[in-house]
Amino acid sequence: MKDLDWGNLTFGYRKTDYNVRCYYRDGKWGEIEVCSDEYINMHMAATCLHYGQEAFEGMKAYRCPDGKVRVFRVKDNAARLQSTCDGIVMPQVPTEMFEEMVKKVVRLNQDYIPTYESGATLYIRPLLIGISPQVGVHPSKDYLFLIFVTPVGPYFKGGFACNKYAIVRDYDRAAPLGTGRYKVGGNYAASLRAHMFAAGKGYGSEFYLDAKEKKYVDECGAANFFGIKNNTYVTPKSTSILPSITNKSLMQIAEDLGLKVERRPVPEEELPTFEEAGACGTAAVISPISELDDLATGKKYSFGDKPGPWSTKLYETLRGIQYGTVEDKHGWTTVVIE
Ligand SMILES: Cc1ncc(COP(=O)(O)O)c(C=O)c1O
Repeated sequence: MKDLDWGNLTFGYRKTDYNVRCYYRDGKWGEIEVCSDEYINMHMAATCLHYGQEAFEGMKAYRCPDGKVRVFRVKDNAARLQSTCDGIVMPQVPTEMFEEMVKKVVRLNQDYIPTYESGATLYIRPLLIGISPQVGVHPSKDYLFLIFVTPVGPYFKGGFACNKYAIVRDYDRAAPLGTGRYKVGGNYAASLRAHMFAAGKGYGSEFYLDAKEKKYVDECGAANFFGIKNNTYVTPKSTSILPSITNKSLMQIAEDLGLKVERRPVPEEELPTFEEAGACGTAAVISPISELDDLATGKKYSFGDKPGPWSTKLYETLRGIQYGTVEDKHGWTTVVIE
C-alpha cells in the first residue's frame, strides 16, 4: 500500500497508477486497454467538447474489515449509464464490459485503496465521451469509455454531520423533460452558479425546487432528498431527478427496517412536517440536513442539529452492507479482491 495520509484525504483528484480504456469504432467496442497516461489525445472538434456528448458515473470501492475489497451495486451503475447513453444518443456500454473494467481498474490500483479505519474510499469514475470530429449537431460515430480511480475522503468535511442548504429559485439545474435524470456533464455545468452562490452564503449546498412550478422538492445539490415522518421514508418523484443508487438502496433498507416508503411529488409546504431530512448519494452517503432556507421567501425549515435516529440507523446499515459487516440480503456488493 502507498504511504498516504489516509485519514486526511479530501474529496478530490489524486493521481493513481492506471486507468482502463475501451474505444467504440465502426459500430463496435474494441479490446480493453490498460493505460498509465492521465491525458486523452483527442480531436478539437470532438462532439464531447462542443455538444456535450459526455456521460459519467460515480461509485466506490471499500476496503473492508474482513480484508476484502468490495464494490457496491456495480450492475445498477452500468444500467444507469446505459439509460444516460440512450438519453444523449451514445452507444450503450454492456454491463459485463463495465463490470470487468471496474474490477480491473480497482485491482490495478489496489495500493491506493484507503484503509478501513480512515473512513476514506477509492472513488471510481467511469467516463464516456463522443470523440469523432463534428461541426453540425449530430451524435458522434466513435466513442471512448474509460474508468479512472482516485482515493477520496468524505464529501463534506464533517463526514456524517448536519449541513444547511439554500433553496434557490433563480437557477434551474435541469428541465422537466431535459437531461436531469441522466448523468451528463451539462447538468453539473448548469448547477455551478447556484452552487457557488449558495456556498458563498455559507451553505453546504444549493437545493432545487422543480423547474416548472417551483412548488415541489427536486434535487439537493448533487444528491437526492429524503424526509422522514410518522415512520415513513418519503422521497420526491420527478423526471428531472437523477435516480440515485444510494436512495434506491435506502428505500429498500427503510422497508427492511419496518418503515413505509413513499416516492411521490413532495410539495415545499410539506417540509415542516418532516422529523428528519437528509441528502443522499455515493459521495456523501447520507448527509443529514439541519436547515433548509428558502432565500426568496425567507422561510426556514429546521430538522435539528444532530443526525436523527432513523437517518443514523439507515446510514449505519448502508455503510455496514458496503463494508461487509451487515448481511448483504439483496446481493448488492461484489468482492473485487478476496
Ligand atoms: C445530481 C445527482 N443526484 C443524485 C446523486 C446520487 O446518486 P448515487 O446515489 O447513485 O451516487 C448524484 C451523485 O451521483 C448526483 O450527481
